[in-house]
This record gives sequence, C-alpha cells and structure tokens, in this order.
Amino acid sequence: MSLIKIEDIAHVRFSAPDLDEMERFVVAFGLSPMRESEDLLIARGAGPWPVLHVTERGEARFVAIGFRAESLADLEKLAASEGASVEDLNWPGGGKVVRLTDPDGILVEVVAGQVQAQTLALPEEPQRNTARAYPRQRLRVRLAPGPSTVLRLGHAVLEVSDFRRSEAWYKARFGFVTSDEIEAAPGFAIGAFLRCDRGDTPTDHHTLFLLQSPRAPALNHAAFEVTHFDDLRLGHDHLARDGRTPAWGIGRHILGSQIFDYWKDPFGNELEHWTDGDLFTVEDGSNTASLQDLLGVQWGPAFPNSL
Ligand SMILES: [Fe+2]
Repeated sequence: MSLIKIEDIAHVRFSAPDLDEMERFVVAFGLSPMRESEDLLIARGAGPWPVLHVTERGEARFVAIGFRAESLADLEKLAASEGASVEDLNWPGGGKVVRLTDPDGILVEVVAGQVQAQTLALPEEPQRNTARAYPRQRLRVRLAPGPSTVLRLGHAVLEVSDFRRSEAWYKARFGFVTSDEIEAAPGFAIGAFLRCDRGDTPTDHHTLFLLQSPRAPALNHAAFEVTHFDDLRLGHDHLARDGRTPAWGIGRHILGSQIFDYWKDPFGNELEHWTDGDLFTVEDGSNTASLQDLLGVQWGPAFPNSL
C-alpha cells in the first residue's frame, strides 16, 4: 500500500533567464500565460487547472515536477511521514504544497486544494467520415490556423540513475501502477510507464515514466494533451511557421498509443503535444515491453536520436 494515491500530474516548473522569450514560446505552444511578476511566468491550459507550466527567472534548467493529491488530508499525511511541511502555494488558484526530494535530488511538489479556474473555449472538432460511418454530411471542414489548444498536462518522463530505486520511492508514496515495464534484455528493466491508481476509473496509460539514464537527473520531456488530431496538426504547422525547433513527430506511439509531436523550447527543454492516448483501470494490470516497443512507432518518423 502506498502512503497516498495521487490523482494526476499537476505542473512542471522551470527556470530561464528570459521570461519574455519563454512567454512567446508557451503562447506558440498553445498555453495561456499569466505574468505573475517580473520574475514569475505561469501558464494554464483550457482545462480547469490553474497552473500547468511555471517559469521563474534564473539559469536555464528544470526545477520541479508537480503531482496533485486527492485532498489536503493526504498532504498532511505525506508531510508527517516525510518530515516535511505543508506550505501555502502562492500561485493562481492557491492551495497547499508539500515539497519532497526524490532519490536523484529531483524536487517533487505535491499539491492539493487548488481552486479550479473557469475552463476556456475548445476549438471546433469536425466529425470524421470513414468507411464505417459518414456522420459529416452537408458540412465542410474549415479549420482556423494557429496554436494547438492545450487542455492539460498529461505526463512527464524523468531520467533517473537507478530505475528500481526511483520506482520504489515513487510507488511507496504515490500509488503508481506499472503499465509497461521496459526491458533492455530479458529480466533487465531500465524503466517503466506508470499510471495513477484510480481504481476502476480509467486513467492515462502513463502519468510518469522513469527511465534509467546516464543523463540523470533530468526531465526528458513533459507532455501536454491537446484537444484532437486536427488541433495537434494545426499546432505543429504553427510552431514550424514560428521558427520553433521540432524534436520528433508527428507519429503514433506503440506504448500508450497516443499521437505525439515533440518540440524544444528556447532553453532546450522538450515538450510534447499528444492526443488520443490509452486509458486503463487498475484491473488492466502490467506488461513488459522492449526498447523497440518504446522507441518504435505505429506510423510517423522513426525516433531521431539516442536516449
Ligand atoms: Fe511522452
């Protein structure tokens, strides 16, 4: 049994020397920024959560990953067990936070009690005519060019120095369930896709992926859900026109099945747009998979570089 069960990933936090440059990027990426002060940039998506992406002024680096607990009572429980304190979260939506450090020194911010914001308008989603059904009749598809509409943060991939050690640390505290464990050779696991334990409520195939890597500790990427495939594709064209740096995509993953599109922000952090991912319950259990499954695609360009 884990100490608490987290609901979802909440935010990723960075520091960067030029917040204006980061703000221009997050707008092009499809987030809605708020400049809280000269030294703090916070961005939300169209969903109800007030904070998805945080940048403070400083050297360019990844600062923290945030998860959302079910309740303030769970934060208290976590803080008591870890010898940490429950602090006020001084961001839009307020709430409380417990800050922990994982075995590689990665800052983990567990939040609860945030007030949800008004959701933002979603783009039109045209119905699709396929061989099996032609629901769109006497209607044209006309899409507005522009950034994708980011709905929420869906997952992050952390590079860790010892997969088993980190897996034990995160599972003991937060109740993650393995979806797919990646074996570099039979019986030798180097990482795993972990989903939240939401009982019989379907949840994303992965909320956290831990990958053993010589680059540890590092954020490999953070992944934001967009509203649908056309929205992802429009966002790709917008980022390209805006002169942004593509990293990998557009394609469909094998593990998790989502349609993906990876980009670099101006400070070298990698962010993903995704849509149409798998959802599983606890009952769906765990699998093992290969590096080929991890890096292969069902369609789209091959993985461009080594991990
Ligand atoms: Fe991803």
